[in-house]
Amino acid sequence: MKTIGVLTSGGDAPGMNAAIRAVVRAGIYHGFKVMGIKKGYNGLINGEIFEMDLRSVSDIMKSGGTVLQTARCAEFMEEEGILKGIKMAQVFDIDAIVVIGGDGSYRGAKEMSQLGMPVIGLPGTIDNDIACTEYTIGYDTAMNTALGALDKIKDTASSHDRCSVFEVMGRRAGYIALNVAIAGGAEVALLPEKPYDMNKDVIKPIIAAKNRGKSHFVVIVAEGVGGAMEIASKIEEKTGIESRATILGHVQRGGSPSVVDRVVASKMGTRAVELLKEGKINRIVGMKSNKIVDFDIEEALNMEKSIDEYEYDLVRVLSM
Ligand code: F6P
Repeated sequence: MKTIGVLTSGGDAPGMNAAIRAVVRAGIYHGFKVMGIKKGYNGLINGEIFEMDLRSVSDIMKSGGTVLQTARCAEFMEEEGILKGIKMAQVFDIDAIVVIGGDGSYRGAKEMSQLGMPVIGLPGTIDNDIACTEYTIGYDTAMNTALGALDKIKDTASSHDRCSVFEVMGRRAGYIALNVAIAGGAEVALLPEKPYDMNKDVIKPIIAAKNRGKSHFVVIVAEGVGGAMEIASKIEEKTGIESRATILGHVQRGGSPSVVDRVVASKMGTRAVELLKEGKINRIVGMKSNKIVDFDIEEALNMEKSIDEYEYDLVRVLSM
């Protein structure tokens, strides 16, 4: 194995640049040639591929986004598209591809590996929703961005004795919402994994908090639950507490990566190269008990991950 390709795929996440840098620098250190593939699987199919040298990744670590750009590629859902991608990789003599992205990107990577192109996956998504790892690149920065915004919202909510309904990202996963709720002292967290009842799970805790002397309130809503505006109207209608909704959106995907994201991405990117050096292919790199680990891609995709009940309960207990 002489040449490694690297691409970012799916939604971008802060820290992806640190992962790219690590793949390039560790790759060259271990004697590989490293090829950058632009715009995810789209760029692979279209041959947007170029050699990356040591200096091509200088100073990229502090920036959000991904210097390779990223995309969600519909063509790569079909075998024909994947074969086109593999053929293009062969044109550039690429022997293995490091895919930095989320679950969706891994499905394409797995098929690619089954069709003969070795892969290594690195978990890059703000959602932290990849089952084989406790941590995904971008999660910490995104939560801190959301928390910074929530702290500001709480300033104005307390000045007006209001209830703030705050929607954070996470279409299928509530990890950002749960931790922002704990860190921001919210009364309620609504997560896609937890069906809720408006009266029992939202109105009652707010009234109970009011009766205990609270004058402003926070309800965190994950994107996958949605309906922040409607939830705010319902709260106002049923409790008489003036309520406002804020939907934070893509601001959570940008910004300079935190120390945690830069360090984890650097370690994971380096491990991806080491695996290839050791002749280990078709693996997903992850983190368990703060250690970098790796799993067979098929095994990794069959794993499941769920919201920790104890952490979920903390929102209720600590917002007393
Ligand atoms: O997967 C990361 C994520 O930011 C999700 O939280 C969100 O639902 C989705 O991507 C949004 O994707 P897009 O940028 O394509 O709208």
